[in-house]
Amino acid sequence: MSDFLLSTDSTDSTDSTDSTILTNSTKMNISIIVAVAKNNAIGKDNKLLWHLSEDLKRFKKLTTGHTIVMGKNTYYSLPNRPLPNRRHIILTDIPGEQIDGCIMAYSIEDAISKMDRDEENFIIGGASIYRQFLSYANKLYITWVHHEFEADTFFPELDKAEWKIMSKEDFPNPDEKNPYPYTYVIYERSK
Ligand SMILES: NC(=O)c1ccc[n+]([C@@H]2O[C@H](COP(=O)([O-])OP(=O)(O)OC[C@H]3O[C@@H](n4cnc5c(N)ncnc54)[C@H](OP(=O)(O)O)[C@@H]3O)[C@@H](O)[C@H]2O)c1
Repeated sequence: MSDFLLSTDSTDSTDSTDSTILTNSTKMNISIIVAVAKNNAIGKDNKLLWHLSEDLKRFKKLTTGHTIVMGKNTYYSLPNRPLPNRRHIILTDIPGEQIDGCIMAYSIEDAISKMDRDEENFIIGGASIYRQFLSYANKLYITWVHHEFEADTFFPELDKAEWKIMSKEDFPNPDEKNPYPYTYVIYERSK
């Protein structure tokens, strides 16, 4: 599936199964953005595992002006929230829960129905959200951090046959603000 196809009839969300969502023809543009360590680690104790200044700047540049979608744990892990100039969709299983300045979604289908139909939508984590959106995404922005970390949250293993590399940029020399070597890889769905 190269694009997620959203049902245009979402008046009764209880009828909203994968197959009905896939029958209609509004395309959603869904990208995952994530920084992943060598052992697939992405977080511990609801925090990031590293501070890479350049990667954070790139995250800001790519996501500003767009819709960002995240789980509630990731939202509360953000030091400044909500993030400026981005439309937030927050997933929670708690019915009726609201967070100021954010759009709430109570299921994956609900989150997709609230995405921007005309622009790129960024899935920004965490682990549970990446896992559930991986099959819906058509693009991945992965920062591979070339170091192993002790962690409690991990990015799912990618099926390499499903993704083709569109670009790759290496940053092999750590410095004070970027203490680990890393590589930006952009993938697009191949099937
Ligand atoms: N390295 C990176 O690029 C990166 C990026 C983002 C996050 N992270 C890290 O990832 C970790 C957080 O990940 P996580 O998996 O613990 O939490 P998470 O995915 O951010 O949030 C999990 C919460 O989202 C809600 N949720 C998940 N699936 C749902 C669904 N289908 N329907 C409705 N609600 C749903 C639930 O909220 P309720 O409990 O309210 O029901 C669930 O407890 C942190 O360590 C963070 O720093 C790393």
